[in-house]
Amino acid sequence: MMTKKADHNGPLAGPRYRQIARQIIQSIINGELPAGSRLPSSRVWALALGVSRTTVEHAYGELVAQGWLVRRGQAGTFVGIAPAAASSTADIQHYGGERSHLRPFQLGVPALDLFPRGLWSRIMGQRLRTQTREELTTGDPGGEYALRESIAAYLRLSRSIDCLPEQIFITAGYAMAMQMLLQVLGQPGEGMWVENPGYPLICPVIAHQQIVMHPVPVDGEGMDIGYAERHYPTARFALLTPAHQSPLGVALSLPRRRQLLAWAARQQAWIIEDDYDSEFRYQGKPLPPLKSLDAPQRVIYAGSFSKSLYPALRAAWLVVPVSEVARFRQQAALWPCPVPRLWQLTIGDFIAQGHFWRHLKKMRAAYASRRQWLETALREQGFEVVAQAGGIQLVIEIAGDDRALAQRANDAGLAVQALSHWFRDAPPGKGGLIMSFTNLASLGEAQQAARQLRRAII
Ligand SMILES: Cc1ncc(COP(=O)(O)O)c(C=O)c1O
Repeated sequence: MMTKKADHNGPLAGPRYRQIARQIIQSIINGELPAGSRLPSSRVWALALGVSRTTVEHAYGELVAQGWLVRRGQAGTFVGIAPAAASSTADIQHYGGERSHLRPFQLGVPALDLFPRGLWSRIMGQRLRTQTREELTTGDPGGEYALRESIAAYLRLSRSIDCLPEQIFITAGYAMAMQMLLQVLGQPGEGMWVENPGYPLICPVIAHQQIVMHPVPVDGEGMDIGYAERHYPTARFALLTPAHQSPLGVALSLPRRRQLLAWAARQQAWIIEDDYDSEFRYQGKPLPPLKSLDAPQRVIYAGSFSKSLYPALRAAWLVVPVSEVARFRQQAALWPCPVPRLWQLTIGDFIAQGHFWRHLKKMRAAYASRRQWLETALREQGFEVVAQAGGIQLVIEIAGDDRALAQRANDAGLAVQALSHWFRDAPPGKGGLIMSFTNLASLGEAQQAARQLRRAII
């Protein structure tokens, strides 16, 4: 596995304990140290490597903090759940499923330590025990009616959106929601305004439907609607994240909301409102969603349980205008809702029994603290944090090549993304790093992660 000779290889520069930590990571990635295997004691390793025991302990400690290793008291130190092979390319991979392993700053993941797993399993167990024969069949292609009722009630109370359960379609995530809506409403060659910068993972889905993406700059008021109207007045769609622009976190201002709705009504265009994390705002009152102002019925609203519950559920939804319900139902009949009925009913119960509200309240309070801890920790390390009103990620400004820096950070076991990666074309001005604070459970953890980041990139 590890040899003394390998210690002197070029890429292993830096303090001795970090060289050792990187070698261990490499051995885990190579499969030489499989998940669950026990590491030699620090005393044995120290002797073998000719270093002090403290150095090895330090390396172990860092890897435990990053989740590569776990300590099991007297039994020793073991390899944690093996991450998929760490690639030296594409920082974007940290967003999704390539890594089964949660790393510091990992985007797109809520605070997994705060999810009420016991309660969840009781609700699901209850549903399972009382399952009817009918519930073993495919179910409503648009999704379980009970879940759609719960979502409609939730949207009414929390987002002032007035819709019927019939207008809601359950999908297996945002990508499926986008695909469904473009299959129903889009024609190849039609144009779509997209935020620049904006969420990159949805682009291949849009391109696959042969929709032409028109990048529109984002400023302090969100997407620049005036720019979009001047440059692409006849686009068929406008896709945006009005609550917290992803990734910059700004809210689309009220005048721009009105301007956008007026354009859509005039052009008979569709607005796609991606409200993926609107639950998380820590100060001030949120602006009303576009959908709640949508008198002309030009807004398709997309929501997801990935941030508010957990991403493995793969459960999201669309709210479509009444006029389009029949066409969406035809589409759903071709591709019935793939989210298992038992899961849908569990989510529905979780909402209907009031747990969803309580959970979100708890998460909001926790995120306010966690965000503050990370901001403090990053500032202590001299980083410039971009001000944001909400959401579950932060951006720091970075001088220099942010992709190269993100790569260095990720090679050191972190999971940040380069802001430039989120631009459709060359980013204007400064680069940045995007990171999440959701799973940093104390000021100490945030400080450790911020120190790791600084060491990796400075
Ligand atoms: C901008 C944005 N929209 C939507 C989603 C929801 O995606 P999904 O429902 O597929 O998890 C995410 C998830 O990270 C996101 O970042």
